[in-house]
Amino acid sequence: MCGIVGYVGNKNAQNFLVSGLKRLEYRGYDSAGVVTLDQEGNATLIRAKGKIANLESCMAKKKRDDVIGIGHTRWATHGEPSEANAHPHKAGSIYLVHNGIIENYKELKSQLKNHDFKSDTDTEVLAALIESFYQDGKHPLVNAVVQALKLVKGTYGIAVVSEKNPEEIVVARSGSPLVVGIGKDETLIASDASALIGHTKRAIYLKDGEVAKVSKDSIEVKTLNAEPVSAKVEEIETNLAAIQKGGYDHFLLKEIMEQPESLAETLRGRVDTKNNLVHLGGPGLSEAELRKIKHLIVVGCGTAHYAGTLASYYIEQFTPEITIETVVASEYRYRQAYIPKDSVALIVSQSGETADTLACLREIKKQGAKTIGIVNAIGSTIAREVDGGTYVHVGPEIAVASTKAFTSQVIAMVMFGITIAQAKGVKNTILRSYIEEIAKLPDEISKLLNSDIPNAVKTMTQKYAKYEHGIYLGRDVAYPTAMEGALKMKEISYLDANAYAFGELKHGPLALVDDRFFEVVLLPKGALYEKAISNVQEVLARGGHVIVITNEEHFDLPVDDIVKITTDLEIFAPIIMNVISQLFAYNMAVAKGNNVDQPRNLAKSVTVE
Ligand code: G6P
Repeated sequence: MCGIVGYVGNKNAQNFLVSGLKRLEYRGYDSAGVVTLDQEGNATLIRAKGKIANLESCMAKKKRDDVIGIGHTRWATHGEPSEANAHPHKAGSIYLVHNGIIENYKELKSQLKNHDFKSDTDTEVLAALIESFYQDGKHPLVNAVVQALKLVKGTYGIAVVSEKNPEEIVVARSGSPLVVGIGKDETLIASDASALIGHTKRAIYLKDGEVAKVSKDSIEVKTLNAEPVSAKVEEIETNLAAIQKGGYDHFLLKEIMEQPESLAETLRGRVDTKNNLVHLGGPGLSEAELRKIKHLIVVGCGTAHYAGTLASYYIEQFTPEITIETVVASEYRYRQAYIPKDSVALIVSQSGETADTLACLREIKKQGAKTIGIVNAIGSTIAREVDGGTYVHVGPEIAVASTKAFTSQVIAMVMFGITIAQAKGVKNTILRSYIEEIAKLPDEISKLLNSDIPNAVKTMTQKYAKYEHGIYLGRDVAYPTAMEGALKMKEISYLDANAYAFGELKHGPLALVDDRFFEVVLLPKGALYEKAISNVQEVLARGGHVIVITNEEHFDLPVDDIVKITTDLEIFAPIIMNVISQLFAYNMAVAKGNNVDQPRNLAKSVTVE
């Protein structure tokens, strides 16, 4: 949420800043700005409401060849999206960009009488606070930043420059990521390593409570208590192709189509079909520790939460004597929940930075339970703070709506469940079908994506674009799959879409059925198939407009549309059905002319509460 970039070196800073911001635009996109300094410290500040493209047009009139600067793309928290509220914020000679929230900004603001506030933001308060300690510029900027940060309550990733010292940038982090890229005679700053790809492969990931003074050829990292830190230089693993559209119209479609490969990456080296075993090295739990687990808590937000819910339906099918609770992180962090002895928490997050999920992780650790990350972003805060984990390895997911991460999160968690079951001595004959199907899943998704179905879904979507509401229905494992389908539709098509457990239909939602609604029914073969068929009939009898997604070839009720899947899978057929839900939502968003990759009001990585 929000993106920060910075540059100091010999090249044109504006060029790097704007290209970096474009890469980070998925993190927030309601306004953006950059400031650069010339050798004398004269600043050029350019800010614009809306997308980076607007900033670029403003920049065309103010081209500079300055070699130092900072920039920001914003997802508004305090104050509406406007030019005045866009970062960088100025106070005296100081310019500041900030991700996060300064919680005590009102109290701090009341003490900063000498600053004439021009915005409604908490960030300008921090700029003014730093300036109050810096003023004449006789002391190092880094000292003023540290003094200010010691008074701050909240979260931040910041970059600061001063007109009085046009050779250095000060950066700091607490709860909001910051990466310092090391180039040849240049240092690059970003809140997400994707902005650095193509410029350098070497980077330092700041830790919470660290502050760094950087120039084009030096990086000094300290703690807020002035203790020097010998920061670890790490390699950035992603390549340029992974963050480009690769011929697709949208990142979302690219990411849907990538699922066979991204899931294969999740499985690589972990599934042994010869011996019907799963090996996960990352969690770092011994056989004895796995055997002792009695309770699993699965924590996440949005898609990660639904992935956790679906995985828990699977895990409880084959893991005896374990209770599983799936919780929404923003709720759980404030509940007085009792964590039973021998609990393990699965912390699920694509970005590894979601504020609520991170807060739960810290709380759960305090209570003594072991935490296992199911994370995509390598080196992210959650990945660093968990006791162990399993990276899903799906590569960068750029579209705000999550697709390939969901599929891999579900399977990674099921694999973790299998390792528990293996340790607890569950019979191989029970686990074998799960393992066999997991191994087949990438090919089965590929089969679907290369069939006529994607085109059929596209054609079908035209018919439903005029509807105002969608109801997603399913039973058992199809229910969490329906929840994820409805979320996808809501996020990118702006259609009011909600999911219900089929059995709940007659306890309320059935009253909604009329011509403004369509109903998407996920209907996998299996024990509850006949019951679900009765439910479909109940909807049809009330004039519903039903779309059925099923792997049952004999399905023949007179519904409006049927998407029949041919797949060898039984257990994981809902994952294939979810790919169809993804395609349906994607085509709906395109049909409505929406910004598919950056839906209104949302951001990819929610690093504030
Ligand atoms: C945001 C994104 C969702 C995502 C959720 C959790 O709301 O728009 O796509 O599912 O955050 O993100 P995480 O990075 O923790 O998986």
